[in-house]
Amino acid sequence: MPASGERRHLTVLFCDLVGSTEIAAQLDPEEWREMVAAYHRAAAQAIIRFGGYVAKYLGDGIMAYFGWPEAHDNDGERAARAALAILEAVAELNQDSTGPKLTARVGIDSGAVVVGASADKDADVFGQPPNIAARLQATALPGTVLITAATHRLISGLFVVVRVGTRTLKGVPTPPEIFQVIRPTGVRGRLQAARGLTPFVGREEELRLLLNRWERTREGEGQVALIIGEPGIGKSRLVAEFHNRIRDAPHIWMESSGEQFFENTPFHAIIEMFSQWLELQGGANGQEQLERLERALASAGLMVAEIAPLIADFLQLPPDERYPASILTAEEKRRRLLAALSRWILGAARLQPLVMVTEDLHWLDPSTLELLQLLAEQGASVPLMLLYTARPEYRAPWPMHTHHNQIALNRLSSRNVREMVVGVAVGSALTSDTVDTVVQRTGGVPLFVEELIRAVLESGNALLAVRDIPATLHDSLMARLDRLSSARETLQIGAVIGSEFSYGLLHAIHPISDEDLKDALQSATDAELVYVHGIAPDANYQFKHALIRDAAYAALLRSRRKELHSRIAEVLSQQFSERVTSAPELVAHHYTEAGLFEQAIPYWQRAGQRAIERSANIEAISHLTKGLELVNFLPEGPERIQQELTLQTIVGPAFIAAQRLRSPRCGTNLCSSARTLQPPRRQGTTLLSIIRTMVVSLRGSQTRHRTATGRRAARIR
Ligand SMILES: Nc1ncnc2c1ncn2[C@@H]1O[C@H](COP(=O)(O)OP(=O)(O)OP(=O)(O)O)[C@@H](O)[C@H]1O
Ligand SMILES: [Mg+2]
Repeated sequence: MPASGERRHLTVLFCDLVGSTEIAAQLDPEEWREMVAAYHRAAAQAIIRFGGYVAKYLGDGIMAYFGWPEAHDNDGERAARAALAILEAVAELNQDSTGPKLTARVGIDSGAVVVGASADKDADVFGQPPNIAARLQATALPGTVLITAATHRLISGLFVVVRVGTRTLKGVPTPPEIFQVIRPTGVRGRLQAARGLTPFVGREEELRLLLNRWERTREGEGQVALIIGEPGIGKSRLVAEFHNRIRDAPHIWMESSGEQFFENTPFHAIIEMFSQWLELQGGANGQEQLERLERALASAGLMVAEIAPLIADFLQLPPDERYPASILTAEEKRRRLLAALSRWILGAARLQPLVMVTEDLHWLDPSTLELLQLLAEQGASVPLMLLYTARPEYRAPWPMHTHHNQIALNRLSSRNVREMVVGVAVGSALTSDTVDTVVQRTGGVPLFVEELIRAVLESGNALLAVRDIPATLHDSLMARLDRLSSARETLQIGAVIGSEFSYGLLHAIHPISDEDLKDALQSATDAELVYVHGIAPDANYQFKHALIRDAAYAALLRSRRKELHSRIAEVLSQQFSERVTSAPELVAHHYTEAGLFEQAIPYWQRAGQRAIERSANIEAISHLTKGLELVNFLPEGPERIQQELTLQTIVGPAFIAAQRLRSPRCGTNLCSSARTLQPPRRQGTTLLSIIRTMVVSLRGSQTRHRTATGRRAARIR
């Protein structure tokens, strides 16, 4: 039974107090204990608030994980925010205390780890990041947050950072490049953080629909368009492109979005939007801001005296003596505020067509959502276009009306993906193989395309990088799998089977009840991770993106992968004989991955023979070569030689047929294994005749090579 655990991409935060020994020496131990406890509490709160997991207290130090037990698509950002929040919390503790002042410092690193769950449920993390985070912390100046380049890559654009340079850390062979995190840039989402956008591709139909709705809006028929699609599919980009296309028509554009860390802050999104609109954040003083608000309300045709105090209060403008303090109950205030805001927006739209964009409804605070609902229901007869985006799990709480449209954003076509690749990789020649792999692995998700191409361009080795999972995608892929909770394991077993798997095979390997298995697969289908064809138990499943499959597979411990591969090979060979007859290479592949080479070789041989029967010589060569590679791992002796010779005897004619003889390797291998075989053996004769044929067919290839093979052949007897 292999140890339980999983492979993860993890961001580790290490926070410690500076000069604690000196402070402790000045205090009574009991006082010191209380101070440390208060600091631990405050730091843990900050970590938990941003979705981190407090893993260990080591003296005054705290180690926290972002990305385990649950991954989020922005674990790097969460860790950096938590780090800044810890420093703030410590500053607040100092304000409240009369004793000596505490100072903390933080180090953060991200990378691959193995998380092993031990019996007492505490996680043990094996890998470099915890060590690097701790060492980095120790080199930080008091009151600062240092991160490595690996973490910086995850958060680039989202924080103001200062490059510190490389630093030698004990036990870390290559000194990593270090950055100091100063503060968030206030940028929302990846589109704003992006350094230069990829040229826009495809989406003609969706744009046509939006532009058509926009025309109607301008004619006074309000419209609602909800764009639904999985993360990274291009919702925000579509909105941006639409904005670009209507640039020349007079309109008001208002933008806000649900934000992950403010899901429960009432009216968060709408306050942001209005503040932006009124430019309240600029230098204007309270009085000027209020006047600006009053003018805006008056021009939208609203009763200023009645509404201005409500909204001023809502936007937290300083109180004005002209307006008496409100005597309304909180509930009444809220109701009136909602009514006032919706009248304001409708009034503004009557003056000039208004597009109100609200992104990421799935993270929207309930109060803003209520306003959106009011607008969706009341906006049909004003030039107001409500443009919403959300991820697939989102269900709009309002009933569909005729002026409501829903756009489901699908993956990009491979033609579009190719266009994108060209756009992202301007100036660098990528081989057509690399481009094909990008098309195939990214499954038409533009975010995946961008990240994979970037990883390829940044790495020195395109061939390797294009098959890897880009670091910037690890967390978001894992987050999608983690959201499946118990269904995740099922999907991971599916991933070991391959990019496609049948219900029958999965069930044979994963012995849970029919009902549980169906539920698990249903949630994977609902989460848009797999496509289903047919109805269970006669269903087949296919991973929507190879990257998702790879992430699911990569999270399994090697030992568990091997165990599953071995089980799959056994079940296939015992229960799915038809499948094995038609594709012996499947069993061969699983035995190979399970490390059971002896069992794998005969299946590679069968696969090769079957391919030869169908004149698929290139495939045959590939299967048989894999078999031959494994032969090297068998114990030395006559059996190994016999096995190698058998494979060589089959692969020889395939090489001849495929005219691959120009590769000298084949002739040399064949002769050397034949020579080691003790005569008299019948195969010797067969072999000799094959070699003769080979020599004949070598005509046209280099003479030197031909003669060498001929000479070797002659020595066999
Ligand atoms: N049609 C397109 N052409 C070129 N690039 C695109 C296209 N659509 C999306 N992209 C790029 O892919 C990335 C992801 O797109 P975007 O941020 O719009 O996704 P999203 O659906 O809004 O995701 P989320 O749900 O995470 O907000 C962006 O960098 C964007 O520029
Ligand atoms: Mg978006």
